[in-house]
Amino acid sequence: MNPTKVFLSEKDIPKKWYNLAADLPNPMLPPLGPDGKPISPDMLAKVFPMNLIEQEVSQKRWIDIPEEILKLLYIWRPSPLKRAVFLEEYLKTPARIYYKDESLSPAGSHKANTSIPQAWYNKQFGIKKLTTETGAGQWGSALAFACNLIGLECKVFMVRVSFDQKPMRKTMMQVWGAKCIASPSNETNAGREILKIMPDTPGSLGIAISEAVEAAVSDTTGETRYSLGSVLNHVMLHQTIIGQEAQKQLKMIGEKKVDCIIGCAGGGSNFAGLAFPFVCEKIHGKKITIIPVESAAAPKMTRGQFRYDFGDNAEMTPLLPMATLGHKFVPAPIHAGGLRYHGMAPLVSQGIVEGLLEPRAYDQIKSYEAAMLWAKTEGTICAPETSHAIACTIDEAKKAKEEGKEKVILFNYSGHGLMDLVGYDKFLSGKLESYSLPEVELQKSINSIKDLPKAERRKTGKW
Ligand SMILES: Cc1ncc(COP(=O)(O)O)c(C=O)c1O
Repeated sequence: MNPTKVFLSEKDIPKKWYNLAADLPNPMLPPLGPDGKPISPDMLAKVFPMNLIEQEVSQKRWIDIPEEILKLLYIWRPSPLKRAVFLEEYLKTPARIYYKDESLSPAGSHKANTSIPQAWYNKQFGIKKLTTETGAGQWGSALAFACNLIGLECKVFMVRVSFDQKPMRKTMMQVWGAKCIASPSNETNAGREILKIMPDTPGSLGIAISEAVEAAVSDTTGETRYSLGSVLNHVMLHQTIIGQEAQKQLKMIGEKKVDCIIGCAGGGSNFAGLAFPFVCEKIHGKKITIIPVESAAAPKMTRGQFRYDFGDNAEMTPLLPMATLGHKFVPAPIHAGGLRYHGMAPLVSQGIVEGLLEPRAYDQIKSYEAAMLWAKTEGTICAPETSHAIACTIDEAKKAKEEGKEKVILFNYSGHGLMDLVGYDKFLSGKLESYSLPEVELQKSINSIKDLPKAERRKTGKW
């Protein structure tokens, strides 16, 4: 019988993070300040510690992972590579479907791959407290878990709709000693302003980010910084441990090539973590289809624009060159809270511009159907975000069957859904609706950023 799981021993864990910026055919565009001029690293110093800012702007291809961080990652890493044999049998596909199981971290998702290093670097820099936002609650719990291990205080602004849909995530954060409040809140100017105009808003990641950044920079002790769970270059960097492990594991199981890489993408981090080491192979000549999958409710990669935009609602962050729907976008309250963000990581966006990535959007009903099939065949209950990657994987496996091709498909199982059962409950009782962002809303949102600087690029792929 062919093996269905590949484990690496601890000594085989990658010792360096991979930085795609070093290999992209065209250099990344710089972040800009409100005056439209490139920002310097010290302009970020009130928000992030300098050791992480150095990683953010680094052009080095490989960055060493400190031994102390590896020691903490060993709590659940290396993560297994598994083969979805029962799904393959059900689909009667000639494709071999593999996935990296990132749901095994203590907080339940890939997010701990960056929360541990971020908390560690902040502690090294003398920081005492971190603030952050969370969509679905996965990032908030991952940061709470890391801060608890490393000895930092942690405050999490959780998007209102998820706060109500997933109350047990708050409890998890509290178990790890963090404080979790619903956003928009009355604790910040950004939150109060929004509540004045939209008292019943479901909230958004853009609003929660504004609150968390404000809470960090307004702390006069200078001992608080902000931590972001996706989008930024250093977050993508920390996640590349996933793809590097997968490369080793595919070799161990005897796969000489991989045809298709898939990951769901909210801000881009789990997708980037799995895909970037393979994007490097693609840049160097390998033929691989690489698909970031977004929600049809927040379709920045497939229907948005590549341009400079703020990372948050209240315009506190620098302007980033990215696929965006506009920073004032308030998405529908879909259950995949982590896919509701208005923008996409600049590195992933640049990969689309270069024609290296082929984004797709999936609707929540199709994604829940995929999650149900997954649970019935492979047994585990995935996070609503992850279900978008599974829906795309199923489509690719069906395509391989139609074409009669023995494809190797690898996707990222970014998290479990055991804290997201309300969404499953709604799906099972027929209360969940198909939702795709209406064109008028999209245009309204994009029009609101038309005066921001353009991100001029040589056109190769999309845009
Ligand atoms: C399980 C899971 N998968 C995916 C995502 C999407 O985020 P990212 O695109 O940064 O991986 C999230 C975000 O909350 C998540 O919790």
